[in-house]
Amino acid sequence: MRVPLFFTLALSALASPAPAAPNAAQLHQQSCTSCHGSEVYTRPNHRIRSKPQLLKQVRRCTMAAGAKWFDDEIAAVAEYLDANYYHFPR
Ligand code: HEC
Repeated sequence: MRVPLFFTLALSALASPAPAAPNAAQLHQQSCTSCHGSEVYTRPNHRIRSKPQLLKQVRRCTMAAGAKWFDDEIAAVAEYLDANYYHFPR
């Protein structure tokens, strides 16, 4: 069955996530890859050992990066790093 294009577009607009939700992967890609890569997160002697520490470090590094992020963006990137690299127990 063919669905008219305008209808498909309207549906996908409804289904897409709220634009306010920060995209952590994209934020990280934009602001966090100029000084170090992900190797600092995974090196055996990495400095960050807990979630609260991670949140602080992300905040510190946004300042170093000159990025003006909202708190929810900082939290989202900390979550992203935890989910992909640190895997702290919750
Ligand atoms: C201006 C340079 C710079 C930018 C840009 C930068 N960082 Fe960093 N970051 C550092 C330095 C320097 C360290 C410390 C490296 C070390 O201890 O050897 C570090 C360390 C870290 C660590 C700790 C790694 C560990 O040992 O566990 C995290 C997490 C981190 N950065 C996250 C980020 C995030 C998120 C961003 C983007 C907002 C970012 N960084 C952007 C300079 C930067």
